[in-house]
Amino acid sequence: MAGLIPQDFIDDLVARADVVEVIGRRVQLKKAGREFKACCPFHEEKTPSFTVSPSKGFYHCFGCGAHGTAVGFLMDFDHMSFVEAIETLANSMGVEVPRDESDRPAQRYDELFDLMSRVERFWQQGLRDNQSAVDYLRGRSIDGTTAKRFGLGFAADGWSTVLDKFGTSQEAIDRLLAAGLIIRKDNGRHYDRFRDRIVFPIRDIRGRCIGFGGRTMGDGEPKYLNSPETVLFHKGRELYGLHEARQALRQIERFVVVEGYMDVVALARHGIDFSVATLGTATTDDHLNRLFRLTENIDFCFDGDRAGKQAAWRALETALPHIREGRQVHFVFLPEGHDPDSYVSEHGSDAFMKALDNGVALSDYIISELAADVDLDTVDGRARLAESARPLIAKIPQGIYRELLIESLANTVGLSAAKLEKTLGRAHGENPQRTAGARLSLGRSASISAGKPSVLRRAITLLLNHPVAGGQLDVEKIAGVSRPGIDLLHDLIETVQKEPNITTAGLLERWRHDDQGRHLGKLAAIEVPEDEDFDPVAELSDCLDQLALAGRRERIDFLIEKQRVNPLDEDEKAELRQLS
Ligand code: GTP
Ligand code: MN
Repeated sequence: MAGLIPQDFIDDLVARADVVEVIGRRVQLKKAGREFKACCPFHEEKTPSFTVSPSKGFYHCFGCGAHGTAVGFLMDFDHMSFVEAIETLANSMGVEVPRDESDRPAQRYDELFDLMSRVERFWQQGLRDNQSAVDYLRGRSIDGTTAKRFGLGFAADGWSTVLDKFGTSQEAIDRLLAAGLIIRKDNGRHYDRFRDRIVFPIRDIRGRCIGFGGRTMGDGEPKYLNSPETVLFHKGRELYGLHEARQALRQIERFVVVEGYMDVVALARHGIDFSVATLGTATTDDHLNRLFRLTENIDFCFDGDRAGKQAAWRALETALPHIREGRQVHFVFLPEGHDPDSYVSEHGSDAFMKALDNGVALSDYIISELAADVDLDTVDGRARLAESARPLIAKIPQGIYRELLIESLANTVGLSAAKLEKTLGRAHGENPQRTAGARLSLGRSASISAGKPSVLRRAITLLLNHPVAGGQLDVEKIAGVSRPGIDLLHDLIETVQKEPNITTAGLLERWRHDDQGRHLGKLAAIEVPEDEDFDPVAELSDCLDQLALAGRRERIDFLIEKQRVNPLDEDEKAELRQLS
């Protein structure tokens, strides 16, 4: 829907937006040379590693890797949608976002939020009016204050309670459908999704209701019913309780990730305000990005049964790429048969806190799980342990954390860390990852062999940092070259040639809705060292030459290889002659 705002309007807006002003209004910035610095608003730090570059129209943090444009900042810091961020920027610059058909979805967003909040209030009244619902919550020791804090409600029994109240026109019915509150039958009629259920409003981080979870009070099936995916609600991204935790705590020391709505509510009832629940899905990267922006400590809490162990291992695999120095991830297993709700209700909050403090550190968890499957008394078993650790370690960004893990793994298998690292070496190559703060050396002396992705990456990095330098490139040079990412380079060059005024930020926004967008943000954050005779045009042109050369070599190899099996046709022979 975002793409419906004309691209040239977005380009223009992003080019003119003053990223320093936008961020400076929300974060105290200090001038440092050509850039501005601050303590990063996205993670806790004492020395500033958050940098804003007015010339690139771009910010990034060497500490946590957060980066983006003015638009991205509004989205991440103020939790706006893309359309809202564009509107806010336009507003502050006194221009109007072009209003045509394509503008409708943006309007509908507001209308949907409004509808959600009216339905939420309707159901809260429904709870006050229904004694058995109140009794149900009391029976689960949820008091009025807690119910209110989470905005719990009750959807009455009946097929069209919400439909009748809120679906008074065709447009209103469409909105109810878009919000996932009613379901359409084959015959074109509709009925309420949530009936005879306790409802838990699911909020975005700003507190706006974006969906609901509903629990039966009896043993009807399903026990829980969630809102479907809608334009407002994406299960894999949201965490139940995140807004409430932020409301309750000024400083969030840690988060505990649990599985259920009731776990979050029950923990809060016992004064444990920092729990969040995934919404019936496994933990995702989006979840972890959100949480790690607010704290460095995450405890995953699971039932002690097999399903809990499996879920924990999945969470561990997702967490690995997010690990870095300073971040702590622990796994907490409750006694079998208990979930956080039942545990805290039976044993109290001190006992629960103690259970948290006894959680297993991620590194210990990896090693103990892997070691459980092998016989460490045999050479073979120790080798297998090292082997099975390989893909896991490859996921952890390089840095102290990874070094330490390798060291304790080495201890376990009785090898020197250096030797083990060598064994694991292949894993490094498979999945090169840098710590967020690492700067990639782009010095010209660095030996870069053509054909490796690094030339391509270097070209893209240079182009992002100096879009103007791409204006005179001969893109034809790389026409025949094929390798992952070359199309992206091609498109980037074409874009900077068509839009000579485009900035770094403008390029990033162009690719925002593209899979490669994330990738580009990281490259734009890499510092390109610039000495006096730094000439981005020559550098870029050099990169293209290297790519073209590598492409030619590959083609020659291909033709020669082919020749050994099959005679070449005339065209191919001519091509080979010409290439060599
Ligand atoms: P209570 O029984 O109320 O204490 O809930 P619980 O959190 O202990 O339930 P459970 O461990 O069974 O489920 C944990 C979470 O999984 C819930 O909060 C829901 O998000 C999800 N879930 C459980 N059952 C269902 C179901 O039948 N359908 C769907 N869509 N999600 C479910
Ligand atoms: Mn439960």
